[in-house]
Amino acid sequence: MSLALAVLVSGSGSNLQAIIDAIEAGKIDAEIKLVLSNKETAYGIERAKKHGLPTVVINHTAFETREAFDRAMVQEIRSHGADVIVLAGFMRILTPIFIREFFPKIINIHPALLPSFTGAHAQRDAAGYGVRLAGCTVHFVDEIMDSGPVIVQAAVPVNAGDDEDTVGARILEYEHRIYPQALKWLAEGRLTVDGRHVHLAPSEAALIGPEAGGLVNPPLEEGF
Ligand code: GRF
Repeated sequence: MSLALAVLVSGSGSNLQAIIDAIEAGKIDAEIKLVLSNKETAYGIERAKKHGLPTVVINHTAFETREAFDRAMVQEIRSHGADVIVLAGFMRILTPIFIREFFPKIINIHPALLPSFTGAHAQRDAAGYGVRLAGCTVHFVDEIMDSGPVIVQAAVPVNAGDDEDTVGARILEYEHRIYPQALKWLAEGRLTVDGRHVHLAPSEAALIGPEAGGLVNPPLEEGF
């Protein structure tokens, strides 16, 4: 069954772009029913428009409470016929009102190897800490920020002289690969959650092994 996605963005939307490209290339059986942003200026909204996708901006500052903002988002998302939520650089904390509405079909990408470096400055925190491996995580969302069951992670090296920007760029390359891959698995009905553990049902697809400078587990499949 084709996934009916709402993609939520606050900024550049490069992950949104990777997802659009993968859908247009026929790699994921999904339709983006809505791209929603809390910011008028989010470049992700421009990207969506370029591809003829429906967009909505809901300015969170116009709402007295997080709950009221979340209710407005729920209404827009439902009215566009989406029921799978893809958080792609959406920089607002979601309340239980939103999460309970769509749970368990909410996924997020975080630019760190969770559970390390939660929060809004993960790349800066990792670069500052001096870790030798950084990375990104796609996970199901629960009511605690950056905490839900992990679907896939990619690790990248942190080299001498790296800073927040160079590490961030290296992480982002892998974000653009693992997010579409995770959505493909979801669309194929191959993900099941058992407590903290996500089980990926096997397929016939050829796997891409560990590559120079990158480690992805579970392995990427051909085309990603
Ligand atoms: C990404 O690093 C993502 O992991 C984080 O916010 C950033 C969004 O980038 N949650 P973009 O808007 O997809 O380019």
